[in-house]
Amino acid sequence: MKVEQIKLDNALMNFNYILYSQETKNAWCVDPFDAGRIKAFLEQHQLTLKGILTTHGHWDHTQGNQELQNHYQCSIIDRESEGNFTFDEHYFLSCESIPGHTMDHLLFLLLKDGKQQAAFVGDTLFHNGVGNCKMGGDVELLYESVLKLKTIIDPEARVYPGHDYVDSNLAFSLDLMPDDEILKKEKKIVAEEDLRGERYTFARELKTNLFLNCDSEKLQKHIAQKYAINIDSEKECFMALRKLRDRW
Ligand SMILES: [Fe+2]
Repeated sequence: MKVEQIKLDNALMNFNYILYSQETKNAWCVDPFDAGRIKAFLEQHQLTLKGILTTHGHWDHTQGNQELQNHYQCSIIDRESEGNFTFDEHYFLSCESIPGHTMDHLLFLLLKDGKQQAAFVGDTLFHNGVGNCKMGGDVELLYESVLKLKTIIDPEARVYPGHDYVDSNLAFSLDLMPDDEILKKEKKIVAEEDLRGERYTFARELKTNLFLNCDSEKLQKHIAQKYAINIDSEKECFMALRKLRDRW
């Protein structure tokens, strides 16, 4: 099964995804913002849409649902659906609840013969950042869900977020940690190569995403000193980081 990443040119820089099989010509899409773009790709590749995966209910992740459902008579897999989903004899979709950005947020893991290929993380995790909780979310739940991601996503799985916020997230990270060699190197790599898409592994996020490194004593001390606040735990570090990013 292939994954097509479509970067939209809207102000929110949404990513849409199409999962498809070249053998069966069946397809599923994730969080369609622009039904026209999805339809154009499906028609170009002679694919039939079998279902729509909705990571969460925000309008910019669901506005294409109705048009696509009417056109293809396909199902919607979201919070209301029951559990996991089997595509075919090899491919399987595992759905996990990860509330925080919104209460209804889901993680979709695409597995081939039991091995994770891709993680569709919606607005819970972005490249070098995490989602905010300003539109119906809860930051404590987001923290718990991010911990959960660290335990369940395979480091080799590709990470597919809902928006392309890598540039601003890296700028924030470097503003906070201007001397961090890993972040400086990452900024250079991202500026020189287009890393969106299949080259973003969860291992890369684990290395370069500050929100996944709140257990780092170095990061905790740095934030505490820079902002003259007390940080005594991973959770306090995460909360402080989210607050700083909200104000940045
Ligand atoms: Fe959202």
